[in-house]
Amino acid sequence: MLRMYDLIQKKQNGYALSEEELTFFVKGVTDGSIPDYQISALLMAIFFKGLTEEETTVFTECLADSGERADLSAIKGKKVDKHSTGGVGDKTSLIVAPMVAATNMGVYVAKMSGRGLGHTGGTIDKLESIPGVNTNQSREDFLRIVNEIGLCIGQSSCFAPADKKLYALRDVTATVNCLPLIASSVMSKKLAAGSDCIVLDVKCGSGAFVKTVKEATELADLMVKIGTRAGKKTVALITNMDVPLGRNVGNSLEVIEAIDVLDGQGDKDLTELCITLAANMLYIANAADYDECVRAVTKTLHDGSAKKKLADLVAALGGNSDYIYNPSLFKESKISAIIAADRSGYIYKMDTELIGVAAVVLGAGRMTKESPIDHRAGITFHHTVGDYVNEGEAIATIYTSNISKAQNGMELIFNAVKISDKKPEPKKLIYKTIGGKF
Ligand code: URA
Repeated sequence: MLRMYDLIQKKQNGYALSEEELTFFVKGVTDGSIPDYQISALLMAIFFKGLTEEETTVFTECLADSGERADLSAIKGKKVDKHSTGGVGDKTSLIVAPMVAATNMGVYVAKMSGRGLGHTGGTIDKLESIPGVNTNQSREDFLRIVNEIGLCIGQSSCFAPADKKLYALRDVTATVNCLPLIASSVMSKKLAAGSDCIVLDVKCGSGAFVKTVKEATELADLMVKIGTRAGKKTVALITNMDVPLGRNVGNSLEVIEAIDVLDGQGDKDLTELCITLAANMLYIANAADYDECVRAVTKTLHDGSAKKKLADLVAALGGNSDYIYNPSLFKESKISAIIAADRSGYIYKMDTELIGVAAVVLGAGRMTKESPIDHRAGITFHHTVGDYVNEGEAIATIYTSNISKAQNGMELIFNAVKISDKKPEPKKLIYKTIGGKF
């Protein structure tokens, strides 16, 4: 008979767990028969001793099997999903899913997304900032929407219930930051969600869960191997999260910025990253050669077709698509305030995790699992790393609902932005890819 005590001790001593043991563990997490303290103890042992590639692959499949696996066979073409490992200001899903669908190249976007996690934002919260949007569609409606308009965004929390439980425990036991646990958590939901092809955007830098290119490469490699072994065409791009992506952080602010990109008038880096991600989604689904995919997705930003797809998606999810054509309908927050430079110089560094925390404090994320989100709260940056600012010049504007949140958020942002006489070396937007193109 298997006992959790023995599994914990075995991992503590650095041995690999067998398929039978990992299956026993995930089953016990799912049916509630293993107490939280033993689950947490094994997570901590894994945190220190790791999992082999083989263990990680088996563990991922067990997590994926802890709930239902989606059957997307009713969708008539290649199905592609895209996933970011989490960042600050990352609104790419709202842009790339409509771009891919708008090309009409026979590739369908059946995208599963999450809510904000810690200091990072989530696509579901962003979409729900548009009045009326309901991302909790039935399986039938999800498939119907993908077939009708070429894309849908649903909630990844319907999949891999064991991961949900483990993630909640990792969050409070300081065991999130562990590559095999991140890889299995992300990939279990992607495998269960059922697409044929997966593009992973592995974020790297001060605002990401992994801080160095070396670590991000290890994580990306592992996830690509897991996806490929499961028969999915999987590629990863490793991208910069040492600055917030784009100008806006916060839910409706990010939707507004996504619309700017879909109008062909968005932030340069954000637009470039979206074109690269969308082109890779088409490319790995064998829609065309890479250059042709780039041309096709770029065109959708200039002929209004990607913006129309976002409006179609909002309408299909029960939302008011007028907001997409007229973003001034989004209500402004009660309070706004400017953060000004306290000296002249170059913006040398932005602690992006701290900026993510500031966004949460302002109301854009959740302080506890239950706390409501203020969809209007957030930050607009007027400058980024490498810009020269004069003393007194506005660096950012914050939006929130009360004075104490404003004060706390402003202090965090002030501490996150470092100004120096020295101009920083520019960093790459995309560091490398595993299996994809850029
Ligand atoms: N996102 C996930 O879904 N899981 C992790 O462990 C980290 C980021």
